[in-house]
This record gives sequence, structure tokens and C-alpha cells, in this order.
Amino acid sequence: MDNNQKKPRVFSGIQPTGGFTLGNYIGALRNWDKLQDECDCIYCVVDLHSITIRREPAALRRAVRESAAMLLACGVDPARSILFVQGDVSAHAELSWLLSCYTQFGELSRMTQFKDKSLKHPENVNAGLFTYPVLMAADILLYDTDLVPIGSDQKQHLELCRDVAGRFNGIYGDVFRIPEGYFPKVGGRVMSLQDPSSKMSKSDENDNAKIMLTDAPDAIIRKFKRAITDSGSEVRAAEDKPGIVNLMSIYSALTGKTFPEIEREFEGKGYGDFKLAVGESVVDALAPIQSEYNRIVNDKAYLNDVLSEGAQRAGAIANRVLHRVRRKIGLE
Ligand code: TYM
Repeated sequence: MDNNQKKPRVFSGIQPTGGFTLGNYIGALRNWDKLQDECDCIYCVVDLHSITIRREPAALRRAVRESAAMLLACGVDPARSILFVQGDVSAHAELSWLLSCYTQFGELSRMTQFKDKSLKHPENVNAGLFTYPVLMAADILLYDTDLVPIGSDQKQHLELCRDVAGRFNGIYGDVFRIPEGYFPKVGGRVMSLQDPSSKMSKSDENDNAKIMLTDAPDAIIRKFKRAITDSGSEVRAAEDKPGIVNLMSIYSALTGKTFPEIEREFEGKGYGDFKLAVGESVVDALAPIQSEYNRIVNDKAYLNDVLSEGAQRAGAIANRVLHRVRRKIGLE
């Protein structure tokens, strides 16, 4: 391993599918930005992961560009970090194959995301959906990653990555660095505004269930006003109030206020006042991101420059690790 690397190495990825949600932002992207101060960060638009679902070619190309623009708008800074597109660095696909020979069928069968997605799309349970976590492990391990900033829905995939890396090291010696997850204090799992028992997801067909980072202020306020809340009228973090707890988590993540502080702030007030305040905190947080996004998204030359330089820099690191692995296995 490269022991000269001084700062902790951070790696994370996001799928370019239909825009990003407030869940993506609070669960992961805010930490992507924050970690750049103290770490050596590498961030990736995972286009290969996104084709487990059929995509129209022009729409996929556009989604990759818009995703990169949104990551820049959320604070990813190409002067300090590497931003690139997964499919531009072929080492990811190659290491994924190698690692798949060290991953058990049973392990992959236990992945809850695979089980959920294959139930949702029984007409297209492709092998890519099944081996998806192996490609994710390759993404992470190619960069001698220390920390992986993700939401809690990706925890199980990270555990698998750690298991596979540990198993490989057990056979061949100290080849892979074993990564740790990095989760937000609150908001690691932002829930649907219409069903607080399921995760806020960009693929939700109900538009009122999710806040997209590009939503207009009036749409954001309207969606929070319509958010499902629980019986009663008190703003209190209780087990029987999952809707309120979800809104409190969002508000806490964006304002830095603790749950007891929020309970005090809304004592004697109803759900209506609280929902409006949560909506406003989201509008305020997203305003600067939206104006940056609108500025960058149509600057194709700039985006191409950032991504091609990113791919070159990422490729140089990834290829060194890939050669190390190939030598250990006996392929070189
Ligand atoms: P993806 O594209 O589904 O989501 C990107 C990030 O957003 C987080 N997230 C959430 N956090 C809190 N609440 C939510 N409702 C919510 N929805 C999404 C996810 O946890 C994730 O951190 N497999 C990954 C992408 C990936 C990756 C990687 C991540 C590929 N290779 C290597 C880290 C390292 C995924 O599909 O994320």
C-alpha cells in the first residue's frame, strides 16, 4: 500500500439517475463537501451501476453531465478533489471481475437492495443487479480508501466490501486497505414524505414523497405542507411519530438544532407551523446550490475539462492498485 499518502483517502459514488434527492444531500453529499477540508477526496458518478435499469442513451449522457454539475454545485471542488465518471476508468470493471471470483453467491443473495429491487422489477433481474455490490467494492478498493461517506442504506454493501477485501488479504497478504463508513449524525436515512416507513428515493413515482435538489421553492413548501404526519399535534421525537421524527431529522440536519431544542421551539405550536419551518430551512439550504447548478450545467466545455482531468488522475491511482492485485493473483 502507498504509505506516503498523508491525509485520509475518501471515496464515494452516486448514481446518475433522474436527479438527486434531499436524502442524497443530507445522507451523503453534505459530507462529501465537508470532508474535502481534511481529506484527499475522490468522487465518482457511477454510470456503470446505473445501467442495471434500461436507459435511453441520450438521457444517460445528459444525466451524467447533470449529475457532475450538481456535485460541483453541492461543493465538490476540482481544485482539491478528483471528480470523475466511473466508466471512464476501465480498472473499475476489471477489478470488479477479479473480486467477483472472491465473492460468494450466498453473500450477494443476502443483499437487501438486491432483494428489494428484484421484487420491484421482476421483469429485469439481470446479473448486473446481482453483482452490483462487487463493482461497488472495486470502486472503493481501487483507491486505498480509508473513509466512505454514505447514507445508511449503503452500509450493507460496505460491509460486503470489507469482507471481500479481508478475505483477499487473508489469501495474498496486505493488498487492500479496509475502508470505514462515514455517516451523518442525523439524516443517515431520510424517509419518504408520504410514507415514513420507506426511504426517500429518487425512483419513487409519487412526486410528493421526495424533494429533488432542483425543486422550486413553492414546490418544496407545498410538499412539506402535504407531508404525512402522525396523530396528535405535538412536535416531539417519539417512537409512534415516525413522520414527525423524519421532519425533525431533516430540520436538525439543516439547522444544527438538537431534538430537544426543536421540541422547545415548537412547544404550543401545531404541525402546520413546524412543517412550514422545515420547508423553509430546505429552501434556504438549496437556494445557493440551485443557483450554482444553473450556472454550471450548460457549460459543457468546463464540465468536460473537469471530468477528463478527473478520469486521468483517478486512472493513474486505480491502475497502480489494479497492477498490485494482478501481480498477487499471478496474472502478471
Ligand atoms: P445512490 O446513488 O443510491 O445514493 C447516493 C448516496 O446517497 C445516499 N442516500 C441517502 N441517504 C439518506 N437518506 C436517503 N433517503 C438516501 N438515499 C440515498 C446513499 O446512501 C448514497 O451514499 N451504490 C451506491 C453508489 C456507489 C458507491 C460506490 C457509494 C457506487 N459505488 C462506492 C460509495 C462508494 C448508490 O447506489 O448510491
